[in-house]
Amino acid sequence: MDFRSDNVAGMAPEILAAIQAANQGNASSYGADEYSAQLDAAFSKLFDTPCRVFPVATGTAANALALDALSPGHGAIYCHEQSHIAVDECNAVEFFTAGARLVPLPGGGGKIDPQALQAHLAQGWRGVQHHPQPRAISIAQATECGTVYAPAEIAALSAIARQHGLLLHMDGARFANAVAAGNHHAADLSWRAGVDVLGFGATKNGALAAEAVIFFKPELADAFIYRRKRGGHLFSKMRFLSAQLLAMLEDGLWLRLAGNANARAKQLADGLAGQGLRLAYPVEANEVFVYLPDRQVQGLKAHGALFHPWDEAAGLYRFVCGFDKSDADVAALLRAASDA
Ligand SMILES: Cc1ncc(COP(=O)(O)O)c(C=O)c1O
Repeated sequence: MDFRSDNVAGMAPEILAAIQAANQGNASSYGADEYSAQLDAAFSKLFDTPCRVFPVATGTAANALALDALSPGHGAIYCHEQSHIAVDECNAVEFFTAGARLVPLPGGGGKIDPQALQAHLAQGWRGVQHHPQPRAISIAQATECGTVYAPAEIAALSAIARQHGLLLHMDGARFANAVAAGNHHAADLSWRAGVDVLGFGATKNGALAAEAVIFFKPELADAFIYRRKRGGHLFSKMRFLSAQLLAMLEDGLWLRLAGNANARAKQLADGLAGQGLRLAYPVEANEVFVYLPDRQVQGLKAHGALFHPWDEAAGLYRFVCGFDKSDADVAALLRAASDA
């Protein structure tokens, strides 16, 4: 009953098999291998547009290096106040951009409120030498609260971005869950809605360690190879990262794995709500945020359930379903919750 994170899961068997298959003989290093050579074409097909693709091994690196490509050190990057880049990445964006300012903005359910963004931009920082210069917006898909931006919501932010000459970055550590959650094409939740750069997460979805930084405007990627090398994410044995990403795309594995995680989260949310518990956010991907009385928290722990305290003072707890959670796993947790 380990629902602390999707990171507690191991690898999907298909990913392990792909790593094993790539483990044959020698291959050119630093991304000059036959697996890495297929990435641009594979993702361009998936997204139905030409894109340039760069594997890195962590979501933090994907975010920090992508934003480094979008903003100089004197730039301002607008993000949600609860976003991973603002709260959980130990200033990696500030470090890799050599000082860009993250401007945290409010908004319900982890989504940036377009009006708050407009209001901030109306302050007139642009062109004033004393102020950080507006450069980019960063949104997470799915969000830190487990909600999913609809294409129109992304488009509303990208319209503001265009109006103010900003670029739009998407932290897609759980992009697979967001796409699997609706009937949208991957393109509709990204470049067609105005996203310029996407971090396509695979690790949380059953890879060992692989995230793809995807540039939908190829010219933005021109210096990325240097940024990645300087950032320590140019893997000498890159074939193993690339093989994981290709395996994810094979026969829609990424959507099957994420679809299961989402379905288990829905099962969990429905079950908890059925027990009279209050959910903090709509469950749209693979995370469930629920208010629990202390008695039930202690009871669940006594049953061996593991979950993440999100805001203990408020009695809010997070349960995440990984790709490998089963119907029976969730049923066991629900039984423990009702016994607790
Ligand atoms: C939304 C989001 N972005 C980025 C990351 C960072 O990933 P990593 O821990 O691989 O650096 C996480 C990890 O929890 C995340 O939840």
